[in-house]
Amino acid sequence: MISVSPSLISPNIPTHSQSSNKPVKLGIMASGSGSNFEAVAQAIENGQLNAEIKVLIYNNPDAYAAVRADKRNIAAVLINHRDYKHREELDKQIVQTLCQHDVEWVIMAGWMRLVTQELIDAFPQKIINIHPSLLPSFKGVKAIEQAIKAQVKITGCTVHLVSLEMDSGKILMQAAVAVLPDDTPDTLHTRIQIQEHRILPAAIALAVNSEQ
Ligand code: GRF
Repeated sequence: MISVSPSLISPNIPTHSQSSNKPVKLGIMASGSGSNFEAVAQAIENGQLNAEIKVLIYNNPDAYAAVRADKRNIAAVLINHRDYKHREELDKQIVQTLCQHDVEWVIMAGWMRLVTQELIDAFPQKIINIHPSLLPSFKGVKAIEQAIKAQVKITGCTVHLVSLEMDSGKILMQAAVAVLPDDTPDTLHTRIQIQEHRILPAAIALAVNSEQ
């Protein structure tokens, strides 16, 4: 009988030691729980990522990501998209906040909003997103539900550079996860997130390194 392992199917992640001694200054954007924010913070604390989180921007008042930032004494700024009529105005405010905190790279760690040219122009090729599918499959919302519906046997997560077109920028790193016959969106998301927490810090190090 063939058994399907629920664990990782992706190759080992190479370690990318950053050549510069200066920690890269990150701005993290999150909408929800912030477990990816936490993974980046832990990678920094463990010495796996030479970076500093300058600010967390969150758009939902009850986002648990803000609590995680508070616990670490990281500035957390609420920029609620509901207060802005146009996406450009929202992004202008985001850019202003990121610049005030001297951010060099922007990490969308569960930021559930589309970006505009305002943000792209302010941080060209320096915005990173994590998406819970093996792109280019299952772009957009409910990527995990899409994968289950399509009855794929393998899905995963992707870290990529952000471009104007949703979930479409250059792919930096991916990890594969088996879809099990009795998976629900929740059970599959739990296993995908284990891989997200591995590859997001590694992909940030990779991107920062290749830019130096
Ligand atoms: C992640 O699964 C990410 O791929 C998606 O949103 C989720 C955010 O999770 N874009 P968390 O807030 O980091 O726990």
